[in-house]
Amino acid sequence: MASHRGAFAVVGAALCLLELARRGLAEEPAVPAMFVFGDSTVDVGNNNFLANCTPNCKANYPRYGVDYPFQSPTGRFSNGYNLADQLAQKLGFDKSPPSYLSLPDVTIIPQMSKGINFASGGSGLLDSTGWKVCTEVFNMSAQVQSFTSAVRKMENGTADLISSSLIFINTGSNDLFEYTDFPSNATRNDTEFLQSLVASYKGHLKELYGAGARKFSVVSPSLVGCCPSQRAIAHDTNDLDGYGCFRAANCLSKQLHPMLGSMLRGLAADLPGMHYSLGDSVGMAELVLNGTVLPGANFTVLDKPCCGGGGGGCNGTAPLCQDRGSYLFWDNFHPTAAASSVFARELFADPGAFVHPINVHELAELRP
Ligand SMILES: *[C@@H]1O[C@H](CO)[C@@H](O)[C@H](O)[C@H]1NC(C)=O
Ligand SMILES: *[C@@H]1O[C@H](CO)[C@@H](O)[C@H](O)[C@H]1NC(C)=O
Ligand SMILES: *[C@@H]1O[C@H](CO)[C@@H](O)[C@H](O)[C@H]1NC(C)=O
Ligand SMILES: *[C@@H]1O[C@H](CO)[C@@H](O)[C@H](O)[C@H]1NC(C)=O
Ligand SMILES: *[C@@H]1O[C@H](CO)[C@@H](O)[C@H](O)[C@H]1NC(C)=O
Ligand SMILES: *[C@@H]1O[C@H](CO)[C@@H](O)[C@H](O)[C@H]1NC(C)=O
Ligand SMILES: *[C@@H]1O[C@H](CO)[C@@H](O)[C@H](O)[C@H]1NC(C)=O
Repeated sequence: MASHRGAFAVVGAALCLLELARRGLAEEPAVPAMFVFGDSTVDVGNNNFLANCTPNCKANYPRYGVDYPFQSPTGRFSNGYNLADQLAQKLGFDKSPPSYLSLPDVTIIPQMSKGINFASGGSGLLDSTGWKVCTEVFNMSAQVQSFTSAVRKMENGTADLISSSLIFINTGSNDLFEYTDFPSNATRNDTEFLQSLVASYKGHLKELYGAGARKFSVVSPSLVGCCPSQRAIAHDTNDLDGYGCFRAANCLSKQLHPMLGSMLRGLAADLPGMHYSLGDSVGMAELVLNGTVLPGANFTVLDKPCCGGGGGGCNGTAPLCQDRGSYLFWDNFHPTAAASSVFARELFADPGAFVHPINVHELAELRP
C-alpha cells in the first residue's frame, strides 16, 4: 500500500513538473495578433480562392509543401513554412494567421483578435501588378481595405488590440519583376517608377495607421535579379552583375531600400505613435551570396531551384533536390524554408546590421 502511495506521489510530482513545463512553454505571444500583407513570400493560401488566378500563381499542388506538416500543399510558395509563418513562430504563434479569403464571413471579426493574413502571390505595390502574369490577384488596395473594413466592424474598445498588434508587410518584388521583364515602355524613367512604388507604399501605410495600426514590420524587396528565373533573363540579355544575377533588376532593389527607409522615417515623424522596423533583404541576400556561412545555414546551391529548374516550373513531376537545407531557392522565384528561416531570425533578432531602426522583437515589446 505504502509503496503504491509512494509511486502515486512520484507520478503526481512528475505530472506537476510536466504541467509547469507546459505552462512555461505555452507563453503568451509577444503581440496579441499579427496581420500580414504582401505577395507570395508571405501568402498562406489566399490565391487558392481566386477563381481566375492561373496555376503558375498558385501553390496548392505538390511539390509545394513537401516539408510542411503532412506534406500538405497549402498555397504556400515554399517547401515548408514561409517567412510569415516563421516570423509568427518567433513571436510565439504556431504559424501565420489564416488566409483572409479562406475565412467564412461570420468568422472574420472573431479572427481579428488573433490575426489574419491578407497576402496574395503575384500582387505588388501597384494594383496593376500581377494581372499580366496571374490574370487575378488580391491587390494591395483590396488587402488593406479588407483589413480596415474589418476593423470598423469590430466592437468599440478594440483600439488597443490593433495598436499593439504587428503589421507585417513584404511586397514590391513583383513590381520590379514586371518593370524589368516587360521592357515595353520607351518613356520609362527608373527614378519615377521607384518613386511611384514608394508613394503607393506610403498610401497603404497611412490607411493602416488610420485604422489604428501602429507597429509595422516592413521588408524591402530582396535582390530580385538573383532568382533563378531572373538569372536566366540576365544570361539571355547579357546583363549580369557581380553575382551573375540580372543587373537591371538588382539595381532597382538596391535603390528602393534607402528610398523606403527615408519614407518610413518621414512617416514616423509625422504620425504620432507610429513605430516601424525596416528589414534590409538586399543586405541579407548579399551576405548569403558572398558565401558567408551563418549559424545553422550553409547554403551551397545559390543559383538553381530545388524544385524544377531548367526553365520548367515546380510541380508534381518536376525534379526535386534531396538536401533542401543547402538550397537558397525552392523554385524559380521563391526561397526555401531554410532560407526564409534565416531571414525571419534576422528580422526578429538582428542587433542592427540588417534591421533599422529596431528589430521586430523590440518592435513587438514596445508599449504604447
Ligand atoms: C484591385 O482590386 C479591387 C478589388 O478586387 C478591384 O476592384 C480593382 O479593380 C483592382 N485594381 C486594379 C488596378 O486592378
Ligand atoms: C463605435 O463607436 C462609434 C462612435 O462612437 C459609432 O459610430 C460606431 O457605430 C461604433 N461601432 C460599433 C461596431 O459599435
Ligand atoms: C509608360 O510610362 C509612363 C510613365 O511612367 C506611364 O504613364 C504609362 O502608363 C506607361 N505606359 C504603359 C503602356 O505601360
Ligand atoms: C527621371 O525622373 C526624375 C524625377 O522626376 C528626374 O529628376 C530625372 O531627370 C528623370 N530622368 C530622365 C532621364 O528623364
Ligand atoms: C558582399 O560583397 C560585396 C562585394 O565584395 C560588398 O560590396 C558587400 O558589402 C558585401 N555585403 C555583405 C552584406 O557582406
Ligand atoms: C558547407 O557545405 C559544404 C558542402 O556540403 C561543405 O564542404 C562545407 O564544409 C560546409 N561548411 C560549413 C561551415 O559547414
Ligand atoms: C512540370 O515541371 C517540369 C519540370 O520543371 C516541366 O518540364 C513540365 O512542363 C511541368 N508540367 C506541367 C504540367 O506544368
